[in-house]
Order: sequence, then structure tokens, then C-alpha cells
Amino acid sequence: MTQRPMRARARAHANIALVKYWGKRDREHNLPAEGSLSLTLQALQTTTSVRFDPALDSDRLTLDGTPATGKALSRLSAWLDIVRARAGCSAFADVVSDNDFPTASGLASSASAYAALALAATSAAGLSLTPTELSILARRGSGSAARSIFGGFVRMHRGTREDGSDSYAQPIDAGEADESDETTWPVRMVIAIVGDGGAKKHPSRDAMEHCARTSPLYAGWLASVPGDLQAAADAIAARDIRRLGDISESSALCMHAAAMASRPAIVYFRPTTMSCMETVRALRSRGVLAYYTMDAGPHVKVLTTKEHAREVATALARIDGVSRVIESAPGPKAELIP
Ligand code: DP6
Repeated sequence: MTQRPMRARARAHANIALVKYWGKRDREHNLPAEGSLSLTLQALQTTTSVRFDPALDSDRLTLDGTPATGKALSRLSAWLDIVRARAGCSAFADVVSDNDFPTASGLASSASAYAALALAATSAAGLSLTPTELSILARRGSGSAARSIFGGFVRMHRGTREDGSDSYAQPIDAGEADESDETTWPVRMVIAIVGDGGAKKHPSRDAMEHCARTSPLYAGWLASVPGDLQAAADAIAARDIRRLGDISESSALCMHAAAMASRPAIVYFRPTTMSCMETVRALRSRGVLAYYTMDAGPHVKVLTTKEHAREVATALARIDGVSRVIESAPGPKAELIP
């Protein structure tokens, strides 16, 4: 048997998609129907430790201090089987994962969770993977997790191969941040938590499948992605936050329109979500650089600049039904904790 440390700990940061991932081309390998583009966030962090132990008779998962059972545990076990097969290891694992933000509320906890897991589990099992291989492995756990292996702006490739070996994420070089730059980099994200931040009604995995199956707008949504991806990448290269923001809003609205047109409908927006969107539009009409995006939950994430972040946060915090506001700078790549 190869030498393995058997235990490891890693940290990863959540990411928010600016061009969304919504739909799969293959369920078994968890392959996205199209690419996506995201920003990894400093303020949303998951720390995960993995310990393989031959004395265990099943995998264990503790999430934010509470033992997990059911779907979350069986999903983790199926994913750990991939790592075990690759490492030639049969031991079950004890996984302890802690988020510093509300889980399962549309704040992309599965992204940072499976990115941290990919790093911790492979390291514990004695595997040494390249960032691309880690991204592919994280994707098997959750599509958006492939992006959280990297920091800053990240692009996820759809790929065309059946085994998913070309479906991984890569960091986008956004250039050196120059605070005096008139093109208004560096970017920030301000997150308005709508309601209590509790568990969402439609998990993204089930919702995107239901949408693909029943929504007459799903095909139109998918057709919008390649053009948005290219335009967003061009906007980042040109450090054009206005253009990037416009594309982000369009991509989010297009995804939600497809979801809403599902039968039965999937509606993530709440009245407070709409109030936040309205506020962002009002801020923009006054010259504040602010652009919203929403995921599989009611919360509103606003792309803005360092200069305008405070004003955006203050305006969002005043809205009835917003329970908390989080300001974040771009975050780093996933890392092992010694
Ligand atoms: C709306 O990555 O959670 O946040 O691959 O089934 O685990 P699975 O889906 P997941 O979907 C994320 C959907 C989204 C948009 C995005 O992050 O791109």
C-alpha cells in the first residue's frame, strides 16, 4: 500500500457566476450543457477536513457542527468512491465541513464545499493532482465547484468529450489591479441576504433538470450562453465593468426566466429580491456602478467597484426583508491548510 497521510484540511471560497451554469449534458459525469464564468469571493469561505479511517464502517459528514444524513451524505459517499477508486484506498472517511455563511440558501455552498473536499480528500488519500485534475474532480461533486478551485475571475469550459476530461475551469487573467485606473477596476461584490438565509425550496441540481425537461424557454437560455461567455471574457480583458455588469444581469434574468417558465414553475425571487433589483437600478441611474445577479435562492449579489461598494451595501441594508449584507473582494484559489 502507498504511503498516505490519511488526513488533510483545505480551504476554498465560494464563487458567484456572472454567466450562469444551468443545465447538464450528462448526469453521470456531471457535465455542464454550456460553459460559465464566475468570480471567487474572499468573504465566503468553507474549511473542510478529511480523515480516512480503516476502523469506520461508513462515511461520516458533519456540516456546520451537525451530523449530515440522507441525500447530502449519499452524494458525498458516491463522490468519495471516485477518490477511493483512484487512490486504491478502501477506508471510509470522516469529513468535517464548516461554512462561514448560510448554507443551502443559494449562496453556492456546494461550490466551496466540493472544491475544499477535492483538495483535502485527494491529499489525505496520497494523490497529487494538478489544478485542472482537481477542477474535474470537484465538478463531479458539483458543477460550480470546478470554478472554486481557482481565485478571481474563472471560466468553466463545457468540453465535448464524453468522459468530461475537457470540462474544467481555468482562471482568467484580469490584469494587475490598478486602483487609480479610470476603468474602475478593482471589482467588489456586495451580497444582500434576503430573509433568514435558511434552506432553499428547490436545490439547483433538481431545479435545472426540471427546467431542462419542462421549460419551453430552456433552449433559448442555452443558446444565449456562448455569446455571453465571449462578451464577458472580452469585458474582463478590457476591464469594462459596465459591459460585464450588463451581461451578468442579462444572463441571470435569462436563466431565471427559463426556470420560471418550467412546469410547475420554479420561482426563486421574493418581493425583497425585486426591491433589491430596483434599488440597484436606481443606484445606477445616479452613476453608481452596480449590477445584480441571482442564483438558486432569493439573495441578490451585486457586482460593483471598491469605490462604490460601501454605498451599495448601505442602500441594500436599508431594504425591508434584507437580513444581512456582506461585502467581498475577489477571493483566492483553494488551498491546503498545513
Ligand atoms: C444557479 O453547481 O449547484 O448557482 O452541478 O448539480 O451541483 P450541480 O449544480 P450547482 O449549480 C449552480 C447553479 C447556479 C449557477 C452557477 O453557479 O453557475
